[in-house]
Amino acid sequence: MDAGFAHHTVLLHETIDLLQVHSGGVYVDGTMGGGGHTRALLEASGPDGTVIAIDQDQVAMDHAKVWGEPWKDHLILVKGNFRDIKIHLQTLGINRVDGIVCDLGVSSPQLDRGERGFSYQHEALLDMRMNEVGTVTARDLLNHRDAAELTKIFRDYGEEKWAARVAERIVQERKKKPIETTTELVEVIKAAIPAAARRTGPHPARRIFQALRIAVNDELGALEQLLADLPDCLNKGGRIAMISFHSLEDRIVKKFFQWEATDCICPPHLPKCVCGHVARLKLVIRKPVLPSDDEVEMNPRARSAKLRIAERL
Ligand SMILES: C[S@@+](CC[C@H](N)C(=O)[O-])C[C@H]1O[C@@H](n2cnc3c(N)ncnc32)[C@H](O)[C@@H]1O
Repeated sequence: MDAGFAHHTVLLHETIDLLQVHSGGVYVDGTMGGGGHTRALLEASGPDGTVIAIDQDQVAMDHAKVWGEPWKDHLILVKGNFRDIKIHLQTLGINRVDGIVCDLGVSSPQLDRGERGFSYQHEALLDMRMNEVGTVTARDLLNHRDAAELTKIFRDYGEEKWAARVAERIVQERKKKPIETTTELVEVIKAAIPAAARRTGPHPARRIFQALRIAVNDELGALEQLLADLPDCLNKGGRIAMISFHSLEDRIVKKFFQWEATDCICPPHLPKCVCGHVARLKLVIRKPVLPSDDEVEMNPRARSAKLRIAERL
């Protein structure tokens, strides 16, 4: 782990092994963060490989300019969203690559640097943008969306049982004064959720904060767009490694891999195929790889990680 960007890389060896990284290959890390996977890709593809490292966070980019210096002939930094992977590769004059890794969600510095507003444990303005030039903050959503829209965000992206109650409480409170900070929001959530429900399970604000973060950054929309373009960006035999941290992401990845690994989707009673659907991927492993007990003990944030791998046919 790098002291300047304190993020423990999750499922590092499993990811690099299953990607079958080879010397001289061209790889993409779609979520560079502190660069743990990027550095491992650089090492495994050396001495003449290339790694394109994408992140939308300027802090991650600035940090990479420092740690990436010794790799500068083999590392291409791209500040942007992985949803635009095709455009990023076209701009670099690269058609296809040999492997792609995405370690979804937020980095530890994004969570731990209070001023980013991602965490209910740090007092801060409710920002939550991974990309500091993004136009919508969590404050904007909380103070301008109506109760039905907020309920949908909390339900769809947080799987929050008390979504409607929290949304209604927010709408009431903001009539008195806009909700600006993480602690103000935590207080509103606590007031909205019945005391008995607050006494069990994780922190009562956890799901609402997750939901807001996903909405602010359109995380699921970006993931779907990335996946749709990935098969076109891979050489035959190239592999995709996707690490997800909650069921919403994992479900999207799992369904996409299954769909792309299926040859014909016609109803079984038809005598011959009329759909023309052709598999573009094969599943390298059927069940996701989970972190070992040792890894979770060393890094509790790894506990919900799931790694899925598919290969371009
Ligand atoms: C879990 S961290 C990655 C950590 C990294 N694998 C490491 O070892 O340090 C996720 C990173 O992906 C970035 N990110 C998330 N969604 C993104 C997107 N749609 N486009 C580009 N970067 C994204 C975040 O800014 C964050 O830095």
